[in-house]
Amino acid sequence: MEYLPKVFESPEIVKCSVLAQCFRSATSPRTEEVTISKRAQSGVPNRKPNLLTSRKPWSPENPSGSIMLRIALNTLLPEPFHARLSRAKFPRECVHSYAEGGGGAQIFKRAVAHYLSRLLLGEQQQIIPDSIRIVTGATSMLESVAFILSDRGDCALCPSPLYSGFAGDVERMGLNIIPVPAGPDTGFVPPPRKLARARVSNWLKGRKCNILLLCHPCNPLGLVFERDKLAAIMKWAVKEKMHVVSDEIYAGTVHTSVTPFTSAWKIASTEIDEQHRDLVHVVTSFSKDLSLPGLRVGVLLTNNSNLLSSMDQIGKFSMLAGPMQYALAEILLDDEWLHGYIRQQHQVLRRAYQQLTSEFDRFGIRYLDGGATLVVWLDLRNCLPMHSTWADEDRLNDLLSLKGVLISPGRASHASEPGFFRMAPYSVDPRAYPEVARRIASTRLR
Ligand SMILES: Cc1ncc(COP(=O)(O)O)c(C=O)c1O
Repeated sequence: MEYLPKVFESPEIVKCSVLAQCFRSATSPRTEEVTISKRAQSGVPNRKPNLLTSRKPWSPENPSGSIMLRIALNTLLPEPFHARLSRAKFPRECVHSYAEGGGGAQIFKRAVAHYLSRLLLGEQQQIIPDSIRIVTGATSMLESVAFILSDRGDCALCPSPLYSGFAGDVERMGLNIIPVPAGPDTGFVPPPRKLARARVSNWLKGRKCNILLLCHPCNPLGLVFERDKLAAIMKWAVKEKMHVVSDEIYAGTVHTSVTPFTSAWKIASTEIDEQHRDLVHVVTSFSKDLSLPGLRVGVLLTNNSNLLSSMDQIGKFSMLAGPMQYALAEILLDDEWLHGYIRQQHQVLRRAYQQLTSEFDRFGIRYLDGGATLVVWLDLRNCLPMHSTWADEDRLNDLLSLKGVLISPGRASHASEPGFFRMAPYSVDPRAYPEVARRIASTRLR
């Protein structure tokens, strides 16, 4: 009776055991029941603790330690930015105001437009600040764009192997990702007829595909797509009245690639009819190019007035802090400092990539020589038996984890067959690379 208030203790009411039971069940804590909504439950991954990854990290003093190569970061050069940020100023008032509402303060949008004009267009054209909206990170921006451009149950076609985070970023809004495989024969870009086939087959199942979602430069492949191939699929998509959303978060991480990077924004402004240009949207962020994932800056670039005004409405749910907008605006407009910083970043990435790949070459490990982004796509099919399955890939992944090499299996990226893995090497001390290569080369599933 400990949960029953006094009123239930009167003889008449205690006789009414049904009522007492109801009250008890409504007030007793019942730990076995889930207490969150169904829609939240659908987004909760069923994660088991990974006992294979619990050992101490590698260092020269702990050479048998685990090496985390799953998160696409660049932590090789933190000092110059810390020093510059500590000198940046912001007006005191912006601490006590709402930074001009959702979508970003005008001063920050101007600075971002200046920075992106150089990054995406090589300063041949200027991006106008009114085409820009800002929220907290590309993750949040992708979700907002999915909310605005699609209805629940709609689909986005996406060349695969694809960024495994896309599904999580947009699925809460009910947008489904449809992988469209592409391989080296077509430069990893599916030709328009293949995209068209995927669109029709989904349409026959009652699903509308109104978005072509790209990640360029490509995570997980670590490469830059060829301009003409990209232009061909963009032209096809806009002719079909589809939106093209190009995630260009790695535009500034093209360090060794021989294929030059061409932004979807540049293709839109030079090769797409004016009437269709407002179907092309670029999403980017400061997490990779500038190595600032902790500052949570996500950017949308679009000329679509409906998308822009909707972003003004929902941007308030993920507004970037005012002081950060002012401080970063100062840094982005400091051309000399910024270009020096970006140059240094490229040098560091190029050197690390060369160190890593020369170890791969020494140990006979196959990889896609893309020279862009913060990831490398490994081909470990020769570590698996012939005619291997996805279960074999899982087992190889477990073996590698046991050896302390933590990389991401290709299945999560919708790789075409088992045996491919994505490695994100730039948050690891390059002195660990020989050990990474040695451990991989000595792992075989037989
Ligand atoms: C292709 C791609 N898009 C988006 C994100 C998320 O970026 P942000 O840190 O800006 O949310 C990532 C992070 O790894 C990414 O690789």
